[in-house]
Amino acid sequence: MGVLPEVVIGPRLVLRRWQISDMPILRDAIQASIDHLRPWMSWIEFEPLSDDDRKALIGRWEDDWEAGQEVVFGAYEGDQVVGGCGFHRRAGPKTLEIGYWVHVDHLRHGYASEMARILTSAAFTVPDIERVEIHHDKANTRSGAIPEALGYHFDGESRVKPHAPATIGIDVAWSMTKNEWHSSSRRPLGEWAPAVGDIPQYGLGPVSPGDVGGAAGDLGLAVYWGEVEVAEGYDLGVDHGGVGRVPPSNGAQH
Ligand SMILES: CC(C)(COP(=O)(O)OP(=O)(O)OC[C@H]1O[C@@H](n2cnc3c(N)ncnc32)[C@H](O)[C@@H]1OP(=O)(O)O)[C@@H](O)C(=O)NCCC(=O)NCCS
Repeated sequence: MGVLPEVVIGPRLVLRRWQISDMPILRDAIQASIDHLRPWMSWIEFEPLSDDDRKALIGRWEDDWEAGQEVVFGAYEGDQVVGGCGFHRRAGPKTLEIGYWVHVDHLRHGYASEMARILTSAAFTVPDIERVEIHHDKANTRSGAIPEALGYHFDGESRVKPHAPATIGIDVAWSMTKNEWHSSSRRPLGEWAPAVGDIPQYGLGPVSPGDVGGAAGDLGLAVYWGEVEVAEGYDLGVDHGGVGRVPPSNGAQH
């Protein structure tokens, strides 16, 4: 199973896998957004979590990521958390499902659209992934607008148990295949690749394009590392972006 990315960079956003040290900023973002998220997100029923429980939860996310199963990201613009998103493997083989939410103070700025867009590109850099799905409850029309605008296919509706107060128990499924995405005009393009070495969140120091296979400078979805250790199986030469992992031993501040 391919390792899932832990950093994804877009035109405005940096998606970073949550770390236990991020607990206070995750807590604050969720607490501010709790009333806005409660109608739609099943996990909100467990909020507010204690700090210890939230650390334990992030620890489980860490384990899932280590196992190549799932990854849960914070979405940052600068140092502000504007939402969260992730990859899940619950949609079957060779498939990742994308989930997203936006902080109540940052709604309707296109952040969910950007998360879904750059995650779609990032998904197809994982070796075994051929398909990405987005699911939402039929009543959640704002969520449904996002895959539709990205050119995902509508795959149909199915009855499920309502999972949050505003949901009606009709799951709407959307999908995108790797081939379709690579020929799509909606995938990220090179012009907004961030300046190499200019991403403050990691503080690992300058990175030259050679560090990422010569790719970062002209990619739409650039991911950078300091001392690069490219996880086996990553294809950094692809035209839609590069993703990878920071070796845990190098003291990365994330
Ligand atoms: C569903 C949800 C994620 C959508 O968040 P959002 O902030 O409205 O998402 P976006 O801003 O990307 O939505 C697209 C809108 O932004 C606009 N937009 C797109 N790019 C933009 C940009 N660069 N700048 C400004 N606006 C932009 C779009 O035109 C669209 O506008 P509209 O509001 O007139 O339709 C949010 O409502 C949410 O967090 N809901 C609760 C959690 C949830 O339901 N998650 C999904 C579960 S399936």
